[in-house]
Amino acid sequence: MIIETVMTSLDSKNDLNFSAIGVEFVKDKVIFYPYKNTTTAENILATKKGTVNIVDRSYYLILAALSEPEFAVDKTDLGNYYLKDCCYYYEFKLSAISDLGKKYKLTANITAQKSRNDFIGLNRAENLLLEAAIIASRIGITKKTKELKNYLAENREIIFKTGDQKSKESYLFLKKYLQIQEE
Ligand SMILES: Cc1cc2nc3c(=O)[nH]c(=O)nc-3n(C[C@H](O)[C@H](O)[C@H](O)COP(=O)(O)O)c2cc1C
Repeated sequence: MIIETVMTSLDSKNDLNFSAIGVEFVKDKVIFYPYKNTTTAENILATKKGTVNIVDRSYYLILAALSEPEFAVDKTDLGNYYLKDCCYYYEFKLSAISDLGKKYKLTANITAQKSRNDFIGLNRAENLLLEAAIIASRIGITKKTKELKNYLAENREIIFKTGDQKSKESYLFLKKYLQIQEE
């Protein structure tokens, strides 16, 4: 099963980066597939470590994938950073690299894990926004702006009906992102 997470990683100058990355947990390992042109791949290949943050708000995934956010973080004893508002986080150390062409397959050992906040539960608006984030992040790769436009229009009512203020903010962020892509 692939879990959509916010990954935090550092570059060699200790600058923190956030990205949205799908990961698989297999026993005490985490496996993920960053595109070669991402800061995440570059950072993890350089520093050999990072943090997987499990979140229950699409807001974090949307902003991590499509912008350069400055989320509130804390530092761990191992020198990694985690999102203060995550449900839980896993710190990892890179153990294997496979070259898959446009992507890497990275396998890492989980070195520490901690619970932070209770999971709020499944929510339709948040699930729909997560899908919108995926479409938005693939514009120019496998998706067209029209697909995001149609998706946001089709799901606006449910998102506004079943979500909260933060879901609306996420929706409006995506609308703005779409407008910029269309220019
Ligand atoms: C829910 C979600 C999951 C994603 N999973 C991946 C992934 O597994 N691998 C990847 O390369 N990009 C993935 N992306 C796209 C990256 O988040 C996006 O390319 C981002 O800009 C990379 O950031 P970075 O350059 O700061 O590392 C995902 C996006 C979303 C919204």
